[in-house]
Amino acid sequence: MKAMVYRGPYKIRVEEKAPPRIEHPNDAIVRVTLAAICGSDLHLYHGLMPDTRVGHTFGHEFIGVVEEVGSSVQNLQRGDRVMVPFNIYCGTCFFCARGLYSNCHNVNPNATAVGGIYGYSHTCGGYDGGQAEFVRVPFADVGPSLIPEWMEDEDALLCTDALPTGYFGAQLGNIVEGDTVAVLGAGPVGLFAAKSAWFMGAGRVIVIDHLDYRLEKARSFAHAETINFAEHDDVVVEMKKTTGYLGADVVIDAVGAEADGNLLQHVSSAKLKLQGGSPIALNWAIDSVRKGGTVSVVGAYGPLFSAVKFGDAMNKGLTLTMNQCPVKRQWPRLFEHIRNGHLKPSDIVTHRIPLEHIAEGYHIFSAKLDHVIKPVVVPSAS
Ligand SMILES: NC(=O)c1ccc[n+]([C@@H]2O[C@H](COP(=O)([O-])OP(=O)(O)OC[C@H]3O[C@@H](n4cnc5c(N)ncnc54)[C@H](O)[C@@H]3O)[C@@H](O)[C@H]2O)c1
Ligand SMILES: [Zn+2]
Ligand SMILES: [Zn+2]
Repeated sequence: MKAMVYRGPYKIRVEEKAPPRIEHPNDAIVRVTLAAICGSDLHLYHGLMPDTRVGHTFGHEFIGVVEEVGSSVQNLQRGDRVMVPFNIYCGTCFFCARGLYSNCHNVNPNATAVGGIYGYSHTCGGYDGGQAEFVRVPFADVGPSLIPEWMEDEDALLCTDALPTGYFGAQLGNIVEGDTVAVLGAGPVGLFAAKSAWFMGAGRVIVIDHLDYRLEKARSFAHAETINFAEHDDVVVEMKKTTGYLGADVVIDAVGAEADGNLLQHVSSAKLKLQGGSPIALNWAIDSVRKGGTVSVVGAYGPLFSAVKFGDAMNKGLTLTMNQCPVKRQWPRLFEHIRNGHLKPSDIVTHRIPLEHIAEGYHIFSAKLDHVIKPVVVPSAS
């Protein structure tokens, strides 16, 4: 089959690879009909994720059609149209029993913090991902769901990561009616977080980025106020000014470890890899939230970190909440919002790229060219 294959930082190709096989009775093989490239894939692409092995296939946002099921699979059959959450999880361990699907204890022999993630390096279990014609889906009775027949493919695709993660970011913010919610990052996750904040009662939503075309989307799609941080000497001061000098009630970090905004931090982390990542967005969140407020972190960070303003967070009495999104937990509410027309996830899709041209897709998304927001990948076998 054709699959995206990692060859080293900034080097990916489409190669012929042996198609996946059923390895366990509860596996399914899914023929991928649509995949996406996520901001998280860029951390792999830039060589920032430990133990990203040459030959690995990325892709943790995908939908498809069941091609084959293992002997113990009961909930799926060949021909089913399925959406697959980016988490791989057992469904029965201590953590899964508490809805912490992204922290499953049984699926990742390489780490105790994070569970399994499709196509996200051996640090996250070493499972090949869905930027390919076929993918192996372990615990097939647990993760995937049938795509409701009224739901369009691209909407279902975005329900496998970007949308539930944005929604989760807003949820973690513990938003109370009337709250001012600031969202750092106007990528897919930030846009969905901003939109979701309204569902949870926000009274004001402010999105911060430095890419004007994305801020424009934040205004039109998420009805947010916007701040371009490149236009201000100190964006924290600007955020304070616009919130009566108190700070926002909730700040959501939808940027993560590759934040721009401070050259020294960006170069020493993302480029020279002298520290685990740039803490800029996280520090802006800590600085611009009000005392006693909540910082919700869904932007991804590497395991070791430095230069975080932890003391300030402590002295301000902040609540810091964070996690990889437990995707399936969000589905019932998200399905309702989509069905009722409150939300059209595919509104943020800007590029539809054949799998054969995925290297170009990564380049465009990484360099933020051509007004890209969300690139979707279309395998030819679909
Ligand atoms: N927790 C989870 O489960 C989960 C799931 C999906 C993605 N993520 C993470 O969420 C983050 C965003 O993903 P995405 O797909 O939207 O990525 P993206 O790269 O499309 O968007 C990131 C945005 O942040 C902006 N940005 C950079 N520095 C900034 C700063 N200092 N302040 C404000 N904005 C800044 C960029 O210009 C860009 O628009 C990534 O770190 C990704 O790994 C986490
Ligand atoms: Zn992702
Ligand atoms: Zn589990």
